[in-house]
Amino acid sequence: MTTTVPADARARRAASPSGGSPRDESPIGADPSAERGALRLAGVGRAFGPAEVLRGLDLEVRAGEILAVIGPSGCGKSTLLRLVAGLDAPSAGGIRLGGTTIRGVDESTAVAFQEPRLLPWRTLEANVALGLPRGTARAEGRERVRHLLQLVGLEHAASQRPREVSGGMAQRASLARALARGPEVLLLDEPFGALDALTRLRMQDLLLEIHAAEPTTVLVVTHDVEEALFLADRVVQLRTLRRAAPEEGSIARVIDVPSPRPRDRADAALAALRSELLDGLGVPSHHGTPAPGTTTRPTTPEDHA
Ligand SMILES: Nc1ncnc2c1ncn2[C@@H]1O[C@H](COP(=O)(O)OP(=O)(O)O)[C@@H](O)[C@H]1O
Ligand SMILES: [Mg+2]
Repeated sequence: MTTTVPADARARRAASPSGGSPRDESPIGADPSAERGALRLAGVGRAFGPAEVLRGLDLEVRAGEILAVIGPSGCGKSTLLRLVAGLDAPSAGGIRLGGTTIRGVDESTAVAFQEPRLLPWRTLEANVALGLPRGTARAEGRERVRHLLQLVGLEHAASQRPREVSGGMAQRASLARALARGPEVLLLDEPFGALDALTRLRMQDLLLEIHAAEPTTVLVVTHDVEEALFLADRVVQLRTLRRAAPEEGSIARVIDVPSPRPRDRADAALAALRSELLDGLGVPSHHGTPAPGTTTRPTTPEDHA
């Protein structure tokens, strides 16, 4: 499989006003889920021995869409990301990327985690270069790394080592490394969870800038309802499965976030969706709109289980 999205596909996606799928350019009757970068999850389940973690998960993600995944601790968010990354296999159902069933780790997806996981003895530049596809020509690789460092605002720190830079800078390098291979799908597991509140807001802005420049499909797991609503085209809320309700699937709800980007964090429509999501997570929001920039970390009974 080729490893990078062709420039013309990128340009098409970038030109699409929604930043999403150029569906109108597909031949009539074409299956949008077969498009490069589009995901289709059908009846996905994952059990570890007798413990069922995910069940009956049906979801289509458009090419270029940003999808946020929220839900109580332990409901299977990271498990879901691992399945899409091909690091784990479903016990039921299947996941297709661009019309092809995911059967293992593939260079068309990239993952970034809460910790940057950089090699401490290498410079940021060298760490980013680790993400390049195998076989990338030297000059082309150097140019791509330079471009990415610039994109994440680290061009001045290229020759520094991870311990010499802040947590936010290290996380930006980690994002650049994930982008180095030109992934069709970028999987982010609580990517900003370890950062201070202000850095976190800056990283959210940066992620959207990156997405505008390189519009890959993004699945981002977050604990933060406001982060989900600021970033995503849709928010998927997962639930903790209960033995007493074997007919229930993992998806509790899917919310469309209609506000165009860039979004105003104080947008009243987002505040209404925030209340709806918090209610769904078992955290009634009696206090209306929070001050801009404040974050909410919902807890639920399951969090304390
Ligand atoms: N490899 C594994 N073996 C056994 N249990 C696992 C494994 N991976 C995850 N789990 C269990 O699956 C549940 C969901 O985990 P996870 O996906 O990490 O939740 P989340 O990311 O939503 O907090 C947890 O109860 C966890 O202990
Ligand atoms: Mg997790």
